[in-house]
Amino acid sequence: MTLLRAQPPAGEDASPAATLAASRPPAGQPGEVVIEVKDLVRRFGDFVAVASTSFSVRRGEIFGLLGPNGAGKTTTFRMLCGLLPASGGQLRVAGVDLRHARAQARQRIGYVSQKFALYGNLTVRENLSFFGGAYGLRGARLRERMDTVLRQFDLAHALDEPSGQLPGGYRQRLAMATGLLHEPEILFLDEPTSGADPLARREFWRRITALSEGGTTVVITTHFMEEAEYCDRIVIQDAGKVLAIGTPQEVRAQALGDGKSRRIDMEQAFIAIVEKARHRSQEKSKEEVAA
Ligand SMILES: Nc1ncnc2c1ncn2[C@@H]1O[C@H](COP(=O)(O)OP(=O)(O)OP(=O)(O)O)[C@@H](O)[C@H]1O
Ligand SMILES: [Mg+2]
Repeated sequence: MTLLRAQPPAGEDASPAATLAASRPPAGQPGEVVIEVKDLVRRFGDFVAVASTSFSVRRGEIFGLLGPNGAGKTTTFRMLCGLLPASGGQLRVAGVDLRHARAQARQRIGYVSQKFALYGNLTVRENLSFFGGAYGLRGARLRERMDTVLRQFDLAHALDEPSGQLPGGYRQRLAMATGLLHEPEILFLDEPTSGADPLARREFWRRITALSEGGTTVVITTHFMEEAEYCDRIVIQDAGKVLAIGTPQEVRAQALGDGKSRRIDMEQAFIAIVEKARHRSQEKSKEEVAA
C-alpha cells in the first residue's frame, strides 16, 4: 500500500519534470550556503576578466548570472567549476575550498558549457556512457542512471543517433542529461537556452524548476532577460564587476533608484544598470586622465 500511494495517479505526474523532482534529493540542509565567492579575481595578463566579485548561493536556489558579452560570466563559471584557477580571492563550492581540493568539488557539480562539448560523432548512448564513466559510474549503476536521464530528457528514441546530427533542442537536452548523470548537488548551465525556440525554452525552465524543487542548486547564465524572472536571485555583472544582486524584483527596484515606483521590465533594468555603471567608469577614467 505504501508503494502504491507513492505512485502517481494514472496519467498524472509522469512528465519528465515530475521524474526530475522525484530524483534523489542531494544531501544537506535546504537554505544552507553551497557557493561562497569572496573578492574573486581572474586576470589574463594585464586584462582583468573578473574583478573582485563576491556573492553566495544557497542550496536549491536558481541563481542567475547576467551580463553583456565579455562581462566575465563564463570565466566566473569556469573558476566555480574548478576548471580555471582564480588569480585571487576565496571560493568555496559544495563545502570545498577550490584552491585546495578541486577534484573533490568536481564530483559534486555538473557543468554544461556554453559551447556544445559532447562528441558529435558519438551517438547519444555512447556520449552518456563515456561521460558516465568519466564521472566514475560503472555497470548496473551506470545503466540505471542512463535510463533515468534518457527518460527525464525524453531522449530514448534518439539513442543511436550521432549527437552532432541532432536538432539544437535535443543537443541541449543531451548536454544537460550528461551533466546530471552523477546526480550533482549543483548544476552550472552556461547559456543553455541560446538558440532554443520558445517551446524548448519553456520546457527547459520546467525542468530547471523541478530540479530546484528536488534540492539541486542551479547556477545559470542567459541573455534572455525575461528568463531572469524565473531565477530566485540574480547578479548583474559587467567588465568583471558585480553591479547589482538580489531577487529579480529587488534588482528592478535598484535600477529605478530610491523612491521611484514606476514598473520596468528586466530588460530595461539591465540596460539602465549597465549603462549607469559604464558612464560612471568613463567619467572616472576622464578624471584620472585630467589629473
Ligand atoms: N583564456 C583567455 N585569455 C584571454 N582573455 C580571455 C580568456 N578567456 C576570456 N577572456 C576575456 O575575458 C573577458 C570575459 O570573457 P567571458 O567569456 O568570461 O565573458 P562572458 O560574460 O561569458 O561573455 P559571453 O556573454 O559573450 O559569453 C572577455 O573580454 C574575454 O575576451
Ligand atoms: Mg560566456
